[in-house]
Amino acid sequence: MNGHYAIAIDGPSGAGKSTLARRAAKEFGFLYVDTGAIYRTVGLAAHRRGIDCHDEAAVSAILPALDIRMGYNDAGEQRMYLNGEDVSAAIRAPEISICASDVSSLPAVRAFLLEMQRKTARENDVLMDGRDIGTVVLPDAELKIYLTASAEARAERRLKELLAKGVETSFEDVLRDIEYRDYQDSHRETAPLRRAEDAVLLDTSDIGLEESCALLFRTIREKLGVGE
Ligand code: DC
Repeated sequence: MNGHYAIAIDGPSGAGKSTLARRAAKEFGFLYVDTGAIYRTVGLAAHRRGIDCHDEAAVSAILPALDIRMGYNDAGEQRMYLNGEDVSAAIRAPEISICASDVSSLPAVRAFLLEMQRKTARENDVLMDGRDIGTVVLPDAELKIYLTASAEARAERRLKELLAKGVETSFEDVLRDIEYRDYQDSHRETAPLRRAEDAVLLDTSDIGLEESCALLFRTIREKLGVGE
């Protein structure tokens, strides 16, 4: 422990990690770090240059030119900056989700982003969400949570979010993207998605957002003894 608390929340795409993590960070006074947004920023940079996101040599070649920073607006929301440009909205496009998953399987990309994540955790009480936070990035986190839900439940939720944002898509397309990312994220060689042995399992397939949130808050209070 470095004087700061760390809570690691890992799980597959669309399990509600970011919504729940953001709320919990606010409730308990932690800095929320969405690490998926960092991988998305690398994916966006590669996509914009027309690079094949599976091509490790080509993606590695652009990394030194990328100045990736996180910031927070007045509402405490994380913003992503790529070479000074606010790309927080651009990184959410469905094609960038796929590129993010592709580049995240490249060891060079993971190594490039590891220290940035650890430094943030050394300097703040963090609630960090991602795929490998409890297993690789912060193996000594005071609390690890593995948040999951069935692929169908996740696709249903993601579809609603995308439609609400005006993105035209279908349940089948969203489910296919989720299954593609689940497979790739959990089968890659470097830092695959998996539950850390000491992570608390929270499955939200059959419960709604408010109930999931209450469950997460209760788990944090019980395990860390904070926010009583
Ligand atoms: O959480 P998200 O869907 O925004 O993440 C985008 C992609 O980034 C996801 O497909 C897997 C990858 N990722 C990762 O490999 N490791 C992390 N810690 C966070 C995200």
